[in-house]
Amino acid sequence: MSYNTILTEVEGKVAIITLNRPQVLNALNDELMNELSSALSGFDTDENIGCIIITGSEKAFAAGADIAAMAKYGFDDVYRRDFISRNWEGIRKVRKPVIAAVSGYALGGGCELAMMCDTIMAADNAKFAQPEIKLGIIPGAGGTQRLPRAISKAKAMDLALTGRMIDAVEAERAGLVARIFPHAELMTEVKAIAKTIADMPLLTAMMVKEAINTAYETTLSEGMHLERRLFHACFATNDQKEGMAAFVEKRSAKFTNS
Ligand code: CAA
Repeated sequence: MSYNTILTEVEGKVAIITLNRPQVLNALNDELMNELSSALSGFDTDENIGCIIITGSEKAFAAGADIAAMAKYGFDDVYRRDFISRNWEGIRKVRKPVIAAVSGYALGGGCELAMMCDTIMAADNAKFAQPEIKLGIIPGAGGTQRLPRAISKAKAMDLALTGRMIDAVEAERAGLVARIFPHAELMTEVKAIAKTIADMPLLTAMMVKEAINTAYETTLSEGMHLERRLFHACFATNDQKEGMAAFVEKRSAKFTNS
């Protein structure tokens, strides 16, 4: 399938989606978000794919929602069509692991898009911010909800109230970013991580994702209950039999994603 605002490629069991509106630093307009949702759901249902990477350019992962488009909107436009939630939150429905590989700016909706992914790997030139306050709006794609869960209330307030940018080192120290790589090596390193994940038993990887994401949506006792049931469900898979047999027999496991 060909798209106007994103590029897609597949390397082995890893799908790579590159945001591609370089003239506006990958500002996230409706067309891009629709295409991103469509590509994600295609890869999610593709049996040959085990992990998905979302990335941008060296200068910008994404500089936020498209301000030029939003500048024309009134309350009626955004409320009536539930602006932001409609074609953004679908990303959370993807059941396979999704990694954000962030180089350059991840601002506003760009930072929020990265936070919708399951983990964030950053280049050493990455910059994160929720600068919406400077435009007279608050973050509208999860910044006020996911940021405090990722980095603490004090730091989320600091970022969303001042709009200041943090670099990769500060983002990693705060817990927003999992790992930092030299920018020239970002994609090589993230593809290797994605391959490692894609080579894991897929059903188990999906259960890890579901269980960890549920930690952000529920109480500890309900989360523990879900974890226990998914843990039990692992014992119904062929890959649990194979993984444990391979360990006992001191050989490499051959997973069949079943
Ligand atoms: N929307 C639309 N266009 C954007 C954009 C955005 N978010 N960010 C950058 N652009 C455009 C610029 O208008 C410019 O276009 P022209 O060449 O036609 O003038 C082009 O991209 C290059 O940008 P700059 O010339 O500004 O590049 P720079 O290197 O000087 O600065 C920057 C880079 C600091 C990222 C700056 O572009 C900037 O501050 N961008 C806006 C960041 C922002 O406020 N993001 C939040 C948006 S609101 C939001 O996301 C709401 C939400 O919660 C979902």
